[in-house]
Amino acid sequence: MSSSRLPIVTVSELGTHVGEAVSLRGWVYNHRSSGKIQFIILRDGTGFVQGVAAAGEAPDEVLETARTLTLETAVRMDGKVRKDSRAPGGYEIAVTGLEVVSRSSDYPITLKEHGVEFLMDHRHLWIRTPRQQSLLRLRAELVRALRDFLDDRGFVLVDSPILTPAACEGTTTLFQTDYFGERAYLSQSGQLYQEAAALALGRTYCFGPTFRAEKSKTRRHLIEFWMLEPEMAFVDLEESMRLQEEMVTYAVRRLLERRADDFKTLKRDTSALERVKPPFPRITYDEAVELVNRKGVPMEWGEDFGAPHETAISEEFDLPVFVHHYPSAVKAFYMKPDPDRPETCLSADLLAPEGYGEIIGGGQRIDDLETLEKRIAEHDLPAEAYRWYVDLRRYGSVPHSGFGLGLERTLAWVAKVDHVRETIPFPRLLHRIYP
Ligand code: 4AD
Ligand code: MG
Repeated sequence: MSSSRLPIVTVSELGTHVGEAVSLRGWVYNHRSSGKIQFIILRDGTGFVQGVAAAGEAPDEVLETARTLTLETAVRMDGKVRKDSRAPGGYEIAVTGLEVVSRSSDYPITLKEHGVEFLMDHRHLWIRTPRQQSLLRLRAELVRALRDFLDDRGFVLVDSPILTPAACEGTTTLFQTDYFGERAYLSQSGQLYQEAAALALGRTYCFGPTFRAEKSKTRRHLIEFWMLEPEMAFVDLEESMRLQEEMVTYAVRRLLERRADDFKTLKRDTSALERVKPPFPRITYDEAVELVNRKGVPMEWGEDFGAPHETAISEEFDLPVFVHHYPSAVKAFYMKPDPDRPETCLSADLLAPEGYGEIIGGGQRIDDLETLEKRIAEHDLPAEAYRWYVDLRRYGSVPHSGFGLGLERTLAWVAKVDHVRETIPFPRLLHRIYP
């Protein structure tokens, strides 16, 4: 039994214990019997392994316990590790001990197909399935890769606040809350605070949840999502784009290197990802407008792209593509006007291939006091709430740039999943805050 002093190992460690008796702990992912043999698929978070208990070989009490197993019952399982190329994962356990930690009855998620609303209602259990586990692991590695990239290049993590008195990305998508009698909002972006941080530390970033009360019900929109926001003093738009393409390439390579099994579970053909490397193509907003019109997705100069436009643009490239120099009118108040063509601004969005849309939005910020004050007034923003931000143009203002990478959209592209609801552990969507 598991009270024995066998080494406790995880499924991922089985390869170094072939021929040895070990103890595993986990949950029953599936269970079936075939004649005199009981098969138990155990999952422990690191992988899946098949336990085999054969009459005549396994102790009687093991066979008896095995017969009573139900989906997601928590167990301790002892046995000898055998190599078996036919078994999922390549190993099998000849079960010699089996102990129920806690029983599960009528587990709602069975191995048959379920509708997506049902799965979303059971997200707390859905994450136990192989595909969702792989997505969560990829997400964790993606975060690690992005942070390693920045940390290794001298960026300092400076956390931006979540509760803020001012809007960053326009006033139409704000979640408002009462802050002891004052009006406060959930952060739409940590950018403004990163601008203060970059003037203190040179190169900084924040990574945290951001909130948009957007009435959008698309496969790219979450109400709460995670954004990585680097900000750099003395850096222009061009240099910022170079950093973005290097960062995205680094992260994609890291996932290919470290998470190949997860791509396999997801059946993601990674050949397109293998080709990701700088430089990414760059087109101007003007060229993009011309392109979509030529492709029969009409729009006028001065409008923002919708999802069909973004898809039409990205279809033309097999790498992520930068679209830069948008009209100032479709961008946020802080975007620096292009000195040569002030109706456009020094902004760039990065659109992912395969129709995944914008994964990064960024640009060079207005660095002179007068233009910034004018913009804040034009956008009808309350001057008082931006007083500290405007201060930054008073005390040693410099050219500076930054960008925000949306984690869920980036992962949706890399993992090739249809909807961002599967790329965040517990999605908040229009009309969904449960579980
Ligand atoms: O383009 P956005 O709105 O840019 C900013 O917020 C800037 N202040 C960032 C900066 O310069 N520091 O958002 C940046 C990215 C988008 O490209 C997208 O990937 C993601 O955040 N994003 C969303 N992801 C999921 N659901 C939503 N509703 C999103 N809105 C933006
Ligand atoms: Mg954007």
